[in-house]
Amino acid sequence: MNKRKNILKIAIDSPAAAGAGTLAKTISKHYNLFYLDTGKIYRLVAYLKIKFPKKFNQNFIKKKIKSLKVKDLENKDLLSDEVGTEASIISKVKSTRKIVHSFQLNFAYNPPKKFKGSCLDGRDITYNIVPDADLKFFITANLKTRAHRRYKELKSLNKNITYEEVLKSIKKRDKSDYNRKISPLKKTKDSVLLNTSKLTKRACFLKIKKIIDRKINT
Ligand code: C5P
Repeated sequence: MNKRKNILKIAIDSPAAAGAGTLAKTISKHYNLFYLDTGKIYRLVAYLKIKFPKKFNQNFIKKKIKSLKVKDLENKDLLSDEVGTEASIISKVKSTRKIVHSFQLNFAYNPPKKFKGSCLDGRDITYNIVPDADLKFFITANLKTRAHRRYKELKSLNKNITYEEVLKSIKKRDKSDYNRKISPLKKTKDSVLLNTSKLTKRACFLKIKKIIDRKINT
């Protein structure tokens, strides 16, 4: 694989609904980076499994990922709790991760020329997908805060779900993402930890911006 030289690569890992996506989008816009929410790819695979159960196999996934456009990941159906839960199940399958892996590598190391680099967020980005990232972050927040944020988000999308159901589902996903054998969620030693529980979106961005600016100005 060709790799673009002298680009800025930012890698972010986080548990569900910790605010990493919002933060990563703001960072990407500010520093003109190509942004990928890698969870959306697993969500897309999960969505395909729910929508086309009979066709769903490794070849089907391969074909879909090969022709995948960033635009496909904007489908609002990917945001449901059902799809998120299924995503945490299919993401444990080694062959599925392998297919998704190459798409992410190309995205991280070959962003279009108009971008100064890339920013990816997910569960295994800092140590598996972009281990040589210039900056690594582990974004987290306490369970209740995350459940409240996700509940608000799902309600704004008119999803029929209670806070208790969201809390239960995030707890289940945490357990699975942290404890699975393949590519579990973890904070690497070289990642900067940011707990967003008591911070506004703006405060989170300013904290991260300070760290990025220090790095790119040295
Ligand atoms: O980030 P999001 O909550 O949308 O991710 C959905 C699920 O996809 C996660 O719970 C996790 O199991 C899986 N995932 C993963 N590796 C990534 C990103 C997401 O296994 N890099």
